Amino acid sequence: MKILHVVCSPRGEASESYQLSLKILARLIERAPAATLVRRVIGGNALPHIDANYALTQHSATAQTTQDGAVARSDELIRELEASDVVVIGTPMHNLGVPSALKAWIDHVVRARRTFNTGPGGKVGTLRDRPVFIAIASGGRFTGEHARQPDFLTPYLTAILGMIGLKDLSFFAVQGTGLGEQAVTEARAQADHALQAHFAARVG
Ligand SMILES: Cc1cc2nc3c(=O)[nH]c(=O)nc-3n(C[C@H](O)[C@H](O)[C@H](O)COP(=O)(O)O)c2cc1C
Repeated sequence: MKILHVVCSPRGEASESYQLSLKILARLIERAPAATLVRRVIGGNALPHIDANYALTQHSATAQTTQDGAVARSDELIRELEASDVVVIGTPMHNLGVPSALKAWIDHVVRARRTFNTGPGGKVGTLRDRPVFIAIASGGRFTGEHARQPDFLTPYLTAILGMIGLKDLSFFAVQGTGLGEQAVTEARAQADHALQAHFAARVG
């Protein structure tokens, strides 16, 4: 089993979403000790945004474009994704949605005539489906009775990853990292509990 680990926070290994994603990895590796891991760090400006040449490839199928720059990076990131059997994404919530680093990755891997095609019925993904685990950290809460903000992160990821064929998504979250030590402790315990329940149900 090949696991692709996408790390989105600018805070790197200190980040809550990274720590939660490590817990998911530990559960996966416990069940498949021979699993191999590819870590793709995109937070902290590790992944540039797409360039003009790449934008042209998405603008028109017949445009004169080259294979370098963001096109080459996109090829590499798509190959990495295609080669995986499981994907684990650790991401913060930024401004109610995905951080710009994750949006940059999406701009590279959601690619017309490569990871999706457009037909009369709309856009159809070309990727084989596989489990995708998403570990989220947020300063406030975005689900439950204490949520005081909308959530554009989980619906957006569901739509955009679904568009390229990735529909088997599982979301876990540590919500309220900015609400004090006790709230964080409780949020981590809730996430641990959700992970425990998920993996117990899935593997038996
Ligand atoms: C640019 C920026 C925007 C943020 N926007 C939100 C937000 O909309 N909602 C929220 O709950 N927290 C927001 N936060 C707080 C982060 O989600 C919180 O600090 C979280 O723990 C970051 O995850 P990390 O530790 O994995 O980096 C924002 C943080 C930053 C830096």
